[in-house]
Amino acid sequence: MSVSVRIVLIVIIGCGITVQKESEKGEPSIKPSIAIVGAGISGLSTARRLIELGIDDFDIYEGLDRIGGRIHAIPYKDGFLQMGAQFINGAENPLYKIANRLGLIADVVSDTAHVDNAHFAFGNQNVREEDIKTFLDFTSKLDPKYRSIAKHDEKTARRYTFKEIFTLDYMHFLKTQNFTETQKNVFDSLARSFRSYWEFEWAADWSTLSVHVLKEWNDYGPECESFATNRIGFKGILDDIAAPIPRNAFNFNSRVENINLNSNTGKIQLTVNDHLVPTEYDYVIVTSSLGVLKKYHHMMFTPPLPRQKIEAIEKIGFGGSCKVFFEWDQPFWSNNTYSIAPLPVRGMISDKLDAFEEETTILQVVDWAPNVLSAWYAGRGHQLVDNMSEEELKQRMTRLMREMYNDNGIPPPSKIIRTQLTKNELLLGSYSYMTQVQALSHISHSQLAIPVKLEGRPKIMFAGEATHHRLFQTTIGGYLSGRREADRAVNDWFGTRYGFNQTNKTEMEDVSLINEKRNVPYISQPITSI
Ligand SMILES: Cc1cc2nc3c(=O)[nH]c(=O)nc-3n(C[C@H](O)[C@H](O)[C@H](O)COP(=O)(O)OP(=O)(O)OC[C@H]3O[C@@H](n4cnc5c(N)ncnc54)[C@H](O)[C@@H]3O)c2cc1C
Ligand SMILES: *[C@@H]1O[C@H](CO)[C@@H](O)[C@H](O)[C@H]1NC(C)=O
Ligand SMILES: *[C@@H]1O[C@H](CO)[C@@H](O)[C@H](O)[C@H]1NC(C)=O
Ligand SMILES: *[C@@H]1O[C@H](CO)[C@@H](O)[C@H](O)[C@H]1NC(C)=O
Ligand SMILES: *[C@@H]1O[C@H](CO)[C@@H](O)[C@H](O)[C@H]1NC(C)=O
Ligand SMILES: *[C@@H]1O[C@H](CO)[C@@H](O)[C@H](O)[C@H]1NC(C)=O
Repeated sequence: MSVSVRIVLIVIIGCGITVQKESEKGEPSIKPSIAIVGAGISGLSTARRLIELGIDDFDIYEGLDRIGGRIHAIPYKDGFLQMGAQFINGAENPLYKIANRLGLIADVVSDTAHVDNAHFAFGNQNVREEDIKTFLDFTSKLDPKYRSIAKHDEKTARRYTFKEIFTLDYMHFLKTQNFTETQKNVFDSLARSFRSYWEFEWAADWSTLSVHVLKEWNDYGPECESFATNRIGFKGILDDIAAPIPRNAFNFNSRVENINLNSNTGKIQLTVNDHLVPTEYDYVIVTSSLGVLKKYHHMMFTPPLPRQKIEAIEKIGFGGSCKVFFEWDQPFWSNNTYSIAPLPVRGMISDKLDAFEEETTILQVVDWAPNVLSAWYAGRGHQLVDNMSEEELKQRMTRLMREMYNDNGIPPPSKIIRTQLTKNELLLGSYSYMTQVQALSHISHSQLAIPVKLEGRPKIMFAGEATHHRLFQTTIGGYLSGRREADRAVNDWFGTRYGFNQTNKTEMEDVSLINEKRNVPYISQPITSI
């Protein structure tokens, strides 16, 4: 037995004794009672961490009828179409380890693979391959350039949006050579693919996305690279995390409308589906998406959230990016196609392109379902397709593919599989990003993690993708944030009452980065594993 484990054991035994004394005094509960709002990856990892710490008295309230939230795997043939998360950013994180143990990793992919390997489809328009090459030579230098600016020139990075910085480079590029109007129109079309690469990656309209995000976001792995999961993917990861959580902890179809902190008793009461829940909680951990907080925080918290919290909620970005899966009975694309970049050009296909043509920039072949194309929409494109009916989408996609393949025999897709995230009141979008106004105000995502306190003690806590200082947007950030808040609650409970003071900083690494001076004691050995 190692020295540290022995120390933990002694402390636990010590706790037990103290607990007994407390109970004799009529203490109502020995362990804290905790409510978790949301059963996405953050809520599940909160619950799982509580179990590791020996706390089993918690309730999970989930508005949907399923776990996963923005992780959403829909069964298809012998796999799952991942409506949400699909990639894992880097190997230096616990989700990679889970996925690797379960054999769910398929491949290492470059973030630009779908553009680099794209088949540019332009039908019988007058587009020359060498113009495409000229443009790709120009854009291939931009990604490294912007990363370098973000690293070495923070002031510039904070000031510019991607749209602004790209527009400057693009104007310069157009001046370098004597391009014809026709060529310029082709470049404009190609620029849309480049724009949507950024927009999909960051789930943002590029006119608000700050270049500073390239410094703040960090997965400690090689740049522009992540792991693709296989046909099971996040379904397997989610089930693995959820496995030890007792089924009776879950309350599905239960939307938390109000979280009321009683400043006299320090207890918290919830209003769920219009009813006051009788249980009084010691801690509530909220994992609602930033989109939900933006829209509903006024109603969700009594008393209202502190001013700085509201400022962070308002200034940090929450964006849109989604996948729409189009199934055809037979592929009309060649069997070596990786992705298709439709290239309708203004002045060739029509005088003016419409929004659907401008936003449909990439369709990727699903490797294990080769008759399915996954169309990626981001920024304003996400709202656009969410607003379209299925029939309309089918018609528009058929027309575009017929034009881009110059083949009127292409049939309409047989099926569309999609989730309209922007219309789901419990999710309201895809993930958070760094806005220009946020970067200029020096607001870090971690400010969203600062708890609501009573007399210096955390009461209402915040986990979720958007609360992680360096892995916001990702499932990893969500997972780590859930553990962080479980630790925070348990540390506060045992730390202040029993003087529990373990000094292992690994789990709490993230908390220490939140602008808090107070030294929070914490437990980090999983008690149940001793
Ligand atoms: C299209 C798309 C692609 C993505 N791709 C990737 C990827 O490749 N890799 C990656 O790492 N990440 C990816 N992400 C992001 C990732 O899915 C999210 O960051 C992560 O799933 C967020 O988890 P969460 O637990 O923080 O939030 P959520 O998943 O939103 O969980 C919160 C839960 O709380 C519930 N809820 C909210 N409010 C209430 C309330 N008031 N009462 C009760 N319940 C409530 C919601 O229903 C939800 O289930 C992608 C997302 C999308 C949309
Ligand atoms: C650019 O091309 C046009 C027509 O192709 C020509 O008239 C003009 O002189 C060229 N300008 C330069 C600076 O080469
Ligand atoms: C792909 O298509 C080509 C030509 O149509 C054909 O010769 C080849 O066998 C196909 N390959 C596979 C793996 O189906
Ligand atoms: C989509 O519809 C919503 C409301 O139904 C509207 O506010 C929004 O502007 C629409 N967006 C687009 C891009 O059409
Ligand atoms: C808790 O640990 C910190 C160092 O990590 C130490 O400074 C502090 O005095 C400890 N508190 C107690 C009550 O032991
Ligand atoms: C701290 O925690 C980590 C992970 O839980 C563990 O591997 C490590 O041994 C711990 N260190 C100490 C000093 O307890």
